[in-house]
Amino acid sequence: MTDARIAQLLKERIGLDAESVGDAVIGRAIRQRSSKVAGGDVGLYWERLQASAEEVQALIEAVIVPETWFFRYPESFAALAQLAGRRVCELAGARPLRLLSLPCSSGEEPYSMVMALLDAGLAPSAFQVDALDVSRLVLERAEEGRYGRNSFRGENLGFRDRHFRGEDGDFQISETVRAKVQFRLGNLLAPALLADEAPYDYVFCRNLLIYFDRVTQERVVDVLRRLAREDGVLFIGPAEASLLSRQGLRPLGVAQSFAFPLDSQAPAARPAFVSPSPRHAPPPRHAPAPTKPSVAPVRPRHPKPNAPLPAPASAPHVVPASAGLADIARLANSGQTAEARQRCEALLAQQGPSAEAFYWLGLLSDAQGQGAQAQGYYRKALYLQPDHQESLLHLAALLAAQGDAEGARRLQERAARGVKRDA
Ligand SMILES: C[S@@+](CC[C@H](N)C(=O)[O-])C[C@H]1O[C@@H](n2cnc3c(N)ncnc32)[C@H](O)[C@@H]1O
Repeated sequence: MTDARIAQLLKERIGLDAESVGDAVIGRAIRQRSSKVAGGDVGLYWERLQASAEEVQALIEAVIVPETWFFRYPESFAALAQLAGRRVCELAGARPLRLLSLPCSSGEEPYSMVMALLDAGLAPSAFQVDALDVSRLVLERAEEGRYGRNSFRGENLGFRDRHFRGEDGDFQISETVRAKVQFRLGNLLAPALLADEAPYDYVFCRNLLIYFDRVTQERVVDVLRRLAREDGVLFIGPAEASLLSRQGLRPLGVAQSFAFPLDSQAPAARPAFVSPSPRHAPPPRHAPAPTKPSVAPVRPRHPKPNAPLPAPASAPHVVPASAGLADIARLANSGQTAEARQRCEALLAQQGPSAEAFYWLGLLSDAQGQGAQAQGYYRKALYLQPDHQESLLHLAALLAAQGDAEGARRLQERAARGVKRDA
């Protein structure tokens, strides 16, 4: 049983909501720290926490979920590269682009931002990335820039050849990429967070809001709006997209990019989002752009992830199930969860059991906080396709949040085995 005072302390300090993350995760961290510094006496440990900011930090280190990997949701980085290429042209050297990754965990996300921009032909001087996290330990790992195989999970690992050098089975990030990220300790809930900084063009805040309750989530969205420029873009995690939609933001309209422009223009009024062309790309002022694309979908689920999409305003509410998975992604990304669900059901009725449709139903349930239902769908997807990467990883995250670390680990290993086979 978790000590309610300590759970409340964690909620106040870092926003962690015991109900969202599961009592077991918090209970385990308390047991671990209290046996280390208070002989397992939770009452004594509580007193220790009152007296020592250092111990509060140690508890935070024990409770955080640092799970991350390079090019997680690859479409986000492809969209970022397109948007940034265009904006650099518009700015014509007036200032560098400003990007923020918060939380950045062990650095995979901010380094992926840098690699995506360099591979799109941006000069290193054209942008700067700030990266913050509440954990000192993950920031140390990020600064070191040395990664094991678990940080590389997609199918397209060409970026690893371009930006890393192998070292005793690990991979060391290049100095060019490392130098573009400034890491610092930062708490998303700190009142004066980044108050002296100019606003950012692109803000990544992914896979943290899922651990907060509704009130804290809404507070954080206000923080993110303050940190971003008025014409900036927020990137969030798939399970968090519906939160921004509820706040009236419209998605960019690129399937699975989970990107929300903050300016008033809805996607319908924006120019069509097109694949990068030489017209949009800034002149490469450093190494020539690679011939292979740096980022690619985990699997080619949607035929053309960055092709222009029909604007939500003109999209009919009911279209035939055969319109398929790209439509489901579009509806889900634009927060039309009920329609997306209907489309999945229709697809299943029309075409029979499908791992992809069950995966999407899992993701939609997950996004609506229906963890048990989400688990059921992910398991159905895995029954049909045992190596379905996203289902394995999402189910693992759900099990971890419930405190089933062993179950989560088994699924992650299964996913990693699948990736190795593909690599
Ligand atoms: C699951 S990782 C997400 C990393 C990355 N954004 C991604 O999506 O792959 C969550 C991270 O949030 C950090 N974190 C938790 N609470 C935080 C807070 N209040 N402020 C800043 N970082 C926080 C944790 O230390 C952890 O590294």
